[in-house]
Amino acid sequence: MSAFVGRGHGKLILAGEHAVVYGHPALAVAVDRGVEVRLTRIDGPTRTCADTACDDRLTEALHAALEPTGWEVSVFSDLPIGRGMGSSAAISVGLVRARAAADGETLSLQTIWERAFAAEKAFHGNPSGLDQAVACRGGLLRYRKGPPPHFDDLPCPSWPLVVLDSGAAGDTRALVEGVRERHPGNQQVLEAIGSLVGKVERAMNAPDQLGPLLTHNHTLLRHLGVSTPELDDLVQLALNHGALGAKLAGAGGGGVVLALTHDPKALEQAARARGIHAFTCHPQPGVSSAGVSP
Ligand code: MEV
Repeated sequence: MSAFVGRGHGKLILAGEHAVVYGHPALAVAVDRGVEVRLTRIDGPTRTCADTACDDRLTEALHAALEPTGWEVSVFSDLPIGRGMGSSAAISVGLVRARAAADGETLSLQTIWERAFAAEKAFHGNPSGLDQAVACRGGLLRYRKGPPPHFDDLPCPSWPLVVLDSGAAGDTRALVEGVRERHPGNQQVLEAIGSLVGKVERAMNAPDQLGPLLTHNHTLLRHLGVSTPELDDLVQLALNHGALGAKLAGAGGGGVVLALTHDPKALEQAARARGIHAFTCHPQPGVSSAGVSP
């Protein structure tokens, strides 16, 4: 039986996580890893294929987004799940695309984003929409939440990023709520993160300037209370092994650290020697380079 397939990109946030929820801009880049969702029509109750790369929460949300009967859903992911690399947004986008393929619908990027954003609210409660925007558009994106949201597709960088996995999942919903509970006491930190975004954007073609800005963003996220000792150690490990800069990427509380370095292999090896899961990602060009209009 033929399957209807949809894909969503994984992402790494370069600057502006959490602050983006409060209306500041954020910069995120799609990476060459992502999620593929396959839908097959079946008789009987909707079910999830056993080897699907989803945790219980994601499986529940997938089922909530589909009719109660008639589908088998499979998810294939080379993104670590629940690690701040946008797996739930990539699944939402993949599902929207697969469902549209099954219905013979051609969707604009705006409609894909709107539908995936609606689904994401089931995962995260109060998402900014950034993760879904990168998952469907690819490339480097400057995003500001709405209404109406602003999507600015920027020239995609060519440098790779090393990802160091803390091995622990962060709970985005709880972290975003925690920042909200501490608001407005943390207003200054959120503003400092927001004002770093423009500097990061201007340093995009100058890795030696960009690196320290990434590390400064990490320090601000630590002040915001979303880092962990493990994430701080991973940042330090990266800096000790020649990284130009490093930061937690995503909501924090676990998840991954991204590191910018001239020598990705050396950093990967140093991390692996300590039993840390490490890999290199490359930016995935998106709509601006593919000439697709929104
Ligand atoms: C999560 O990937 C990014 C946050 O800024 C939340 C959001 O933007 O919805 C922490």
